[in-house]
Amino acid sequence: MKDGLDYDTLIYEDRVHQRIYTDETIFRQEMNKIFGGVWVYLAHESQIPDNDNFVTSKLGLRPIIVVRDSLGHIRALYNRCTHRGATVCRLNKGKAKSFACPYHGWSYFNSGKISGVPWPDGYANDFSDPKYNLAQIPRVSSYRGFIFGTLNPKMPPLEEYLGGVKKPLDQWLDRHPGGILSFCDANRLKFNGNWKLLYDNSADGYHVVFSHRSLLAMENRLVQGEEEDKGMAYYKTNPDNAPFYVKVFENGHHYKDKRPAVDTSPGGLWRIEGPHPGMEHYEELIREKLGDHANSVLDLASSEPVNINIFPNLHILGNHVQVSQPISLTETDTTWWGTAIIDENDELHGCVDAVNALRMRTQESFPNFGEVDDLMNFEQIQAGLAGVEDEWVYMHRGLGVPDRIKRDEDGYLIGPPTDEIFLRETMQIYKNLMKSNPDLVIERDVKEAAFDTT
Ligand code: FES
Ligand SMILES: [Fe+2]
Repeated sequence: MKDGLDYDTLIYEDRVHQRIYTDETIFRQEMNKIFGGVWVYLAHESQIPDNDNFVTSKLGLRPIIVVRDSLGHIRALYNRCTHRGATVCRLNKGKAKSFACPYHGWSYFNSGKISGVPWPDGYANDFSDPKYNLAQIPRVSSYRGFIFGTLNPKMPPLEEYLGGVKKPLDQWLDRHPGGILSFCDANRLKFNGNWKLLYDNSADGYHVVFSHRSLLAMENRLVQGEEEDKGMAYYKTNPDNAPFYVKVFENGHHYKDKRPAVDTSPGGLWRIEGPHPGMEHYEELIREKLGDHANSVLDLASSEPVNINIFPNLHILGNHVQVSQPISLTETDTTWWGTAIIDENDELHGCVDAVNALRMRTQESFPNFGEVDDLMNFEQIQAGLAGVEDEWVYMHRGLGVPDRIKRDEDGYLIGPPTDEIFLRETMQIYKNLMKSNPDLVIERDVKEAAFDTT
């Protein structure tokens, strides 16, 4: 409370104070207590398949290099020169055995260990002291290819942190041959709003029919003489009467499972795909080649009707992986990674390229035609919250309504699709984190140089 912030008076069960989204001190604290204090998603293993591959990422505001070093260890190095602090790597991705700082040329092995400085006779010290190595995130762990990091030694192991959300994540992966996917390239978008606005929306089934009205219409534009049930038509009228649900896991993770609202027998998912340029050609090709088996293969090109949200920055929806990245109190980047099937055992009978081409079409749809609606809402919330004397933001839909919230067989809360239970529960997790004071630590003591210099 030295900072004058009492989170018990800012976050209640039914509402939160607008300062949560507009206060610079709160944002600064989040960058440590959350982005640093919990397991935060950094990158996917398919982005660094070989030794010496790297991608740049961020842990909150800290620039990070996620690298598979020359000995094959996955590390998350601080992209910050030990000398005077400049970033040592200025590319998004690449292959490098070492990084040389562009400012004065200090260089580092991709293990983080310092490898040399220009004109060393100008220094009296011994550079084998680990204090000159790049800092790195001490705890880096991956679950089925998704790499996370934390600076908090007291965090439980990653799998424990993920808890119940592992189940939908496993199901999402296991529908593909070999249970793996690789990341393609991405749609990158930025909005002028606080990062939490995106997380708040990630299981929100209340806004869809209003905010995405034009997308829902477009998905059904070419339907003639059939039921208009393409795309997200299950959100039409009152979604609470439809058979899908929102589920809340531990640690702020949640899940919108829309599968019960659609026909998931072979070909069912493909049948409700909206129109995408070029889809007819690939569909024909796959049907010609596979006959009866084509339906279930085409389903792999269709958006899986789920939203899997892993606090604080990872979202899986349709066939996408969406990652959010705070830039400042009122600016956030969001990156939508496309995913491709790797069919090592030819389970798709020579059709993997066609399916992946179709996936690219289906994956272009939502970021282009849906996400822009959401980002506009986030920017307009940020604008609306400028009046500081109008204090409260409400999230009480469903609260106190008898028999509305239930528990599943594992004890997780389940509500109807438009319920704000996921938001209320996440805000309580958020409150506890913001009241905590985790000790954040870094690592520098790299034993191995990573590649043989003898
Ligand atoms: S800041 Fe990197 S070498 Fe000087
Ligand atoms: Fe939306």
